[in-house]
Amino acid sequence: MNEVYEKLKKCHEAVAKRITFKPELALILGSGLGDFCDTMDVKETLPYSEIEGFPKSTVAGHKGQFVFGYSGSVPIVAMQGRVHFYEGYPVQDVVLPTRLMHLMGAKTLFLTNAAGGINPAFHAGDFMLITDHISSLVPSPLIGTNIDELGTRFPDMSEVYSRRLRTIIENSAAAEGVSLQRGVYIQTTGPNYETPAEIRAYGRLGADAVGMSTAIEAMAARHCGMEVCGISCISNLAAGISANPLSHKEVQETADRVAPLFRKLVARAISDICAGK
Ligand code: HPA
Repeated sequence: MNEVYEKLKKCHEAVAKRITFKPELALILGSGLGDFCDTMDVKETLPYSEIEGFPKSTVAGHKGQFVFGYSGSVPIVAMQGRVHFYEGYPVQDVVLPTRLMHLMGAKTLFLTNAAGGINPAFHAGDFMLITDHISSLVPSPLIGTNIDELGTRFPDMSEVYSRRLRTIIENSAAAEGVSLQRGVYIQTTGPNYETPAEIRAYGRLGADAVGMSTAIEAMAARHCGMEVCGISCISNLAAGISANPLSHKEVQETADRVAPLFRKLVARAISDICAGK
C-alpha cells in the first residue's frame, strides 16, 4: 500500500477506536475562529496528540483537536487548529486531517481562514466567500503515487468551491444581514508575510486575498470527492496596501473582534447547506 495512505488508514483506525460520532460536514477553523465550538452541542473531542502519526499544530492560538457534535441539527466535525505547510510538514501530512475527515464520513468540507486583503475594496474585518483559488506558489498535496482509493490521478479543479454551496452561503449571509465580499484566494507558503511587490503581483494575477492555508486542503478534498466551500476573514490589509507593518497579533485581534458575526454566518450557512438532507 502507498505510504501516505497507510499512515492515513492508521490514523483512521485510531479515531474509529475512540469516536462513534458520524459527521456529515467537516469544518476547518482558521486563526481566532476556534471559539465556534462554543456554539456547538459538543459530543466528543479528540486531541491530535492522541492520534499516532498525526502532525501537531504549533501555531499560538490554535488548540489542536477534533471537536465532534451538532451545529444546530447538523452533525459536524470541527478542526480546532489546522496544520500548516510552514510548520515544516510534508504537504501530504498537511492534508492528512482533511482526508481523515473524509474517511470519518464527512461529505462536505467548509474551510475558514484569516487572510490579508489585496482587493482595494476590502476592509479589515470583512468576510470573503472564496470563489476560486491560486495554489501555484505551493506544492500540490497530490504529488507522489496517486492514492487510487481516494481519487483519480489527474483530478479536475474547474470548480473547487462548489457553485451550489456558494449560492446557499450568499443567501445565508443575506438572511443574517451579514455583508459578504467574494473573491479569489491565493496561498503562499508563509510563514513570513508578503512584500508589497509580491502583493502587487498577486493582485495582477487575479487574487483578492492572501493566506497560508486552505488551497491545498481544498484540492485534497476535491480529489477525494468532497464538496467544498470556504470563507476568509479579512484580518488585515495585505502588505503595501496597509500603511502599517503586519503582525500575527493584528490578524488575531481582528479575527477575535469579528468572531461573533463569523460564528453567526457559519452556523447559518451550515444549517442551510444541510437543510433537507
Ligand atoms: N498574508 C498572508 N497570510 C495572512 C495574512 C496576510 O496578510 N493575513 C492573515 N493571514
